[in-house]
Amino acid sequence: MKFTFISLLILLIGQLVSAVSLPRTPDVDVQSLYQSLQYNQDEQQLIDSFVKELTQITKYNGTNATQCNRCIRRLEVGHDLALLKPKLIHPVFIKWCIDNKIDDEIECRIHYGRNTVENNTYGSDFANMLYLMDPSGYDGQLYCSYIEKTCEIPATPKIDLSDKWPAKQPKHYIAPEPSNETYNVLHVSDFHIEMDYQIGSEANCSQYMCCTNHNYNKLQPPKGYNYTKNSNFTQEQLSNLSFYNGFYDDELNYHKDQTPVENVLSNTSIWQPATEFGSYLCDAPEVLINSSLKSIVQYQEELGLNFNFSIFTGDLVDHDEQAYIGFEKAAKSEELIFRDMKSTLKDLPVYPVLGNHDTYPYAQLAQEKSGFKNLMDWNAKLMGEMWQDYGWLNESTAKYAKEHYTGYSVTTTQNLKVIALNSNAYYLSNLYNYWNATDIDSFGQFQFLIDELVASEAIDQRVWIIAHIPLVQEALPVPAEVFKQIIQRFSPYTIAGIFFGHTHLDQFNVLYDGEVSNKTEENAQNIAWISQAVTPLTENNPSWRYYSVDTKTHSIMNSYNYYFKLNDTFVNDSEEPIWEFEYSAREAYNVVNWPDESPLNATFWHKVANKVNSSTEIAQTYNNYKKRFSPYVPDCANSKGCDGSYCFLASFTYKDYRACMEYYSEPSASL
Ligand SMILES: *[C@@H]1O[C@H](CO)[C@@H](O)[C@H](O)[C@H]1NC(C)=O
Ligand SMILES: *[C@@H]1O[C@H](CO)[C@@H](O)[C@H](O)[C@H]1NC(C)=O
Ligand SMILES: *[C@@H]1O[C@H](CO)[C@@H](O)[C@H](O)[C@H]1NC(C)=O
Ligand SMILES: *[C@@H]1O[C@H](CO)[C@@H](O)[C@H](O)[C@H]1NC(C)=O
Ligand SMILES: *[C@@H]1O[C@H](CO)[C@@H](O)[C@H](O)[C@H]1NC(C)=O
Ligand SMILES: *[C@@H]1O[C@H](CO)[C@@H](O)[C@H](O)[C@H]1NC(C)=O
Ligand SMILES: *[C@@H]1O[C@H](CO)[C@@H](O)[C@H](O)[C@H]1NC(C)=O
Ligand SMILES: *[C@@H]1O[C@H](CO)[C@@H](O)[C@H](O)[C@H]1NC(C)=O
Ligand SMILES: *[C@@H]1O[C@H](CO)[C@@H](O)[C@H](O)[C@H]1NC(C)=O
Ligand SMILES: *[C@@H]1O[C@H](CO)[C@@H](O)[C@H](O)[C@H]1NC(C)=O
Ligand SMILES: *[C@@H]1O[C@H](CO)[C@@H](O)[C@H](O)[C@H]1NC(C)=O
Ligand SMILES: *[C@@H]1O[C@H](CO)[C@@H](O)[C@H](O)[C@H]1NC(C)=O
Repeated sequence: MKFTFISLLILLIGQLVSAVSLPRTPDVDVQSLYQSLQYNQDEQQLIDSFVKELTQITKYNGTNATQCNRCIRRLEVGHDLALLKPKLIHPVFIKWCIDNKIDDEIECRIHYGRNTVENNTYGSDFANMLYLMDPSGYDGQLYCSYIEKTCEIPATPKIDLSDKWPAKQPKHYIAPEPSNETYNVLHVSDFHIEMDYQIGSEANCSQYMCCTNHNYNKLQPPKGYNYTKNSNFTQEQLSNLSFYNGFYDDELNYHKDQTPVENVLSNTSIWQPATEFGSYLCDAPEVLINSSLKSIVQYQEELGLNFNFSIFTGDLVDHDEQAYIGFEKAAKSEELIFRDMKSTLKDLPVYPVLGNHDTYPYAQLAQEKSGFKNLMDWNAKLMGEMWQDYGWLNESTAKYAKEHYTGYSVTTTQNLKVIALNSNAYYLSNLYNYWNATDIDSFGQFQFLIDELVASEAIDQRVWIIAHIPLVQEALPVPAEVFKQIIQRFSPYTIAGIFFGHTHLDQFNVLYDGEVSNKTEENAQNIAWISQAVTPLTENNPSWRYYSVDTKTHSIMNSYNYYFKLNDTFVNDSEEPIWEFEYSAREAYNVVNWPDESPLNATFWHKVANKVNSSTEIAQTYNNYKKRFSPYVPDCANSKGCDGSYCFLASFTYKDYRACMEYYSEPSASL
């Protein structure tokens, strides 16, 4: 929608740069990290000697020292420097990185340069991490295994949470039986708005995300290259290339420009020009987001769905290169999409979580007790205020969200409790997670979750949990284990649903009790629903879903998925996409002979996972849905593209997944 960004920024930028709460040790000059940098002679000497030391470790430290040891040793040196003079972390690590060709200069500056509002550098967070962490212990091992990938993943300490809750009673091992009535809930995920999307720009680029004016393909097309001749479209289709700009007005009417973007095809340095509604290697232009929301409203009306509420499982900001994501873009993306959701979905309550992209700098979130939480508070405040303004959260819930990393709990009009968590608290790219990393709850989110679950269990209330990142991927081992044990304790009696996004793929994870060799029906305890995405990145069709939910137990009775064929919009003359029904899970997987009156619970999905494992046909069905029938769906019978599907579906944490892959010797193709 036409949207003018009224700048909260002036306010927020001030906060971002200045609101550093000092850590407890008063003699450490953390403020200086964020001030403009001039080095005196002594400092310059220190810089030189530290760079020399890091270089020696990198280059010459005996042929004996393993890469893991060297990584740890560098962290130790960095930690010493962070205690001595934190502002020198940036010049030292940047110079070390460039001199030793650890990365190209831009990447070195992004990783180690001090945070600014213009570029997504996270050197200040790196410096804060070095200051806080214990490099010689578990923290250092963990960092070097997950970030530098040079150490083995350290053994996860034994975690026993049994004193955190009342003992599990026999009745807690059985889920309540559904009634015969249902209501509907919308689930949308991963919009990833590409604000600088440009029709005619390179849609086949060498960067991770394409379709902006700064994207390019490192290989020039051959002389005389002509897209219209090289594409496989017919002459008639080619006369309909979608090079018109369009927009949606407040009533969701679509307006197409009278004239197409000019001279697109005469640019012979472009392999594949981006068309209006998006492309398979690009994030979502705003018209795609509007079109998705419009299709939701239209299907709701047409089918009389009357959604009771909606969940949004995160990721609003795009996958542009870090150098092109500034604070303003991140905040604006968040604001813009929530605004579009509110103006389209009207009174439908949306219960959102933030994703790993929905923060600035990327993925960073500091614990209250780290002393650095203020750096990111702008985000929780902005979100809490917005979600309250839109009537999604009431005042006290919004207040909680603002103070607790956007986490909260709400009870719906149907008496279901929805608990929302911020998954950056367990995400491997959040540098603050390498501080005191054996702490079972450094953010306090898990205690909150336990408290809410204990309270609900006591009154036989059922609960849904929503977060962005599934534990099967990119979650650090200690919080993943804690989260898993909590879910096990409250399944299946209290926890009626777990919902994630993040992978952009239509997937699920079954949670089993016991060992890897014991993925049996009796051991299936719960499942996580991983929603597909609206963004096409990478090589998927845009899609969303809704659930029919049992009125009494809030168990999921069925899921219904909608999508459109993005490639059809390349040659439809910039007309609106045509959204279609894709599939419903109960019918699509009826091979498992599931009774009509039973919910699509862990037992159902256990059976589906087994079929995916044993039948190429069902593996193909799953992989078609996973990518929503895009042109890039692998052929399960004639390629290795579907390998690894079973272990992904039959694992809940990354540790489970690795154990499964090892046990079944499954080739690891499709994580
Ligand atoms: C190499 O490592 C071994 C075993 O850790 C040690 O005994 C030996 O002294 C080391 N050699 C050098 C040159 O550091
Ligand atoms: C070289 O590495 C070893 C262990 O890997 C460490 O004990 C030693 O201090 C390192 N030397 C330097 C100069 O960092
Ligand atoms: C649900 O079951 C009750 C009792 O068996 C019955 O009266 C009612 O009509 C059923 N409702 C629906 C929607 O089938
Ligand atoms: C055209 O089709 C051929 C054969 O299916 C394929 O190899 C080629 O990649 C396609 N070209 C484009 C531009 O999609
Ligand atoms: C081209 O677009 C027009 C509408 O703008 C449509 O009627 C026609 O069917 C399209 N042709 C093809 C081959 O898609
Ligand atoms: C590319 O080929 C089409 C015919 O398929 C032609 O109309 C167009 O002028 C060509 N473009 C260039 C830049 O040569
Ligand atoms: C995409 O670019 C690569 C070169 O980087 C080229 O080989 C390939 O054919 C291009 N594909 C399309 C569909 O244009
Ligand atoms: C950071 O942003 C500024 C201003 O947009 C730009 O001039 C500079 O090149 C960027 N730095 C990097 C590392 O991309
Ligand atoms: C580090 O974690 C432990 C628990 O593993 C906890 O007791 C301790 O308070 C934490 N330290 C800090 C500074 O938070
Ligand atoms: C495997 O599952 C069975 C039945 O649920 C249980 O009795 C047994 O203890 C489990 N074994 C392991 C190793 O988890
Ligand atoms: C799933 O539902 C069926 C039928 O109601 C039930 O037998 C089974 O125990 C349930 N599974 C779980 C894990 O709750
Ligand atoms: C889009 O892709 C699908 C799946 O590969 C294919 O069936 C369809 O024909 C394609 N549409 C166009 C316009 O090429």
